[in-house]
Amino acid sequence: MTTVAKAGLEDVVVSTSEICFIDGRQGRLLYRGFDIDDLVAHSTFEEVVYLLWHGALPSRKELDAHKKALVRARKLPPRFITFLKDLPKKTAPMEVLRTGVSALSAFDPDAADNAREATIRKAIRLTAQMPTLVAAWERIRRGKAPVAPNPRLSHAANFLYMMFGKKPTDLAARTFDVALILHADHEFNASTFAARVTAATLSDLHSAITSAIGALKGPLHGGANEQVMHMVEQIKDPARAEAWIRKALADKARIMGFGHRVYRVEDPRAKHLRRLATLLGEQTGDTHYVASLNTVARVVTEEKHIYPNVDLYSGAAYTTMGVPTDQFTPIFAISRVAGWSAHVLEQHAHNRLIRPRAEYTGPTSATYVPIDQR
Ligand code: COA
Repeated sequence: MTTVAKAGLEDVVVSTSEICFIDGRQGRLLYRGFDIDDLVAHSTFEEVVYLLWHGALPSRKELDAHKKALVRARKLPPRFITFLKDLPKKTAPMEVLRTGVSALSAFDPDAADNAREATIRKAIRLTAQMPTLVAAWERIRRGKAPVAPNPRLSHAANFLYMMFGKKPTDLAARTFDVALILHADHEFNASTFAARVTAATLSDLHSAITSAIGALKGPLHGGANEQVMHMVEQIKDPARAEAWIRKALADKARIMGFGHRVYRVEDPRAKHLRRLATLLGEQTGDTHYVASLNTVARVVTEEKHIYPNVDLYSGAAYTTMGVPTDQFTPIFAISRVAGWSAHVLEQHAHNRLIRPRAEYTGPTSATYVPIDQR
């Protein structure tokens, strides 16, 4: 058999893909050839979703139709809301999302149809329903009634409206829109690979997204931004940040929000979130999260030569908007569903079962001993 790949499949190229390009040395990220810096400056999440699924920017007519389809699909079936209300209130939002996405297939008229057009219809529904689900659970677990989607608001603004029951400021809505753009895809990361492995068995979109959400949940992937905020809470005062991080490094702790399998420089998404988290902090008069994170970033970069990733500043922005920490990873998912869906479409279009091998290192001549003789 051929040689074993490096642990964690590091540097293994498993497939071609036309969706996303990462240049880890230059710190560039492209969706379908478009630099994310340009998309952040000029685009919206809705347009980026279209770009990822269809491979080109939409005309105005195409974008209007796409936005209308997303708005129309926002509502959750009433029986699904009843199902959410029956869950124990202590259930973590990420568990609710994973279970909820799987359950939504029971209400989807195209559930088992893997034709491209059916998968796009399901992707529209899931992309529209997931924010409603996440916001509804936030309300339900606090004993409040879910807020119905507002069709006049953008995808980003509507999510914040459903979560807090009031329209967000322009800066909060734009910050959230940019966060959604920045998290929408990232090549063959762990959750996307999980989605593609599931899709490659010719399983359906809901199953692939459920697999992906399970993979995203772990602290080495989507869960890192929650851990960053726990770090900032422990630091408490920016004046303590330098001593705190130096001690953590001396203790050989893994610092969340730093390092990346692919980037060797700062993650190109981090600067946008740093800028927006700083602006939000200034608007609300609370700059201590960003101040602590900037000190941590300076020390970690100097001492370890590892750089901020996308998770370092996103939590500071969400916290300033009032989003609870355990909702950060579900928010990551309501953006990444765009990329996961694009990858399922691509996988189904050129499918072959993904089935690697293991080099067996266990025994080969074990003798079975009956249970009463062991
Ligand atoms: N804090 C401290 N040290 C880190 C580190 C971090 N966040 N990330 C990497 N390193 C160090 C490792 O200790 C290791 O050092 P060593 O060679 O002296 O043992 C080296 O850098 C390589 O790390 P490794 O874990 O092998 O890299 P990886 O490619 O497997 O891991 C991550 C990539 C993202 C899992 C890793 O950087 C990490 O755990 N980061 C924190 C979690 C996080 O922010 N995840 C979100 C990613 S977007």
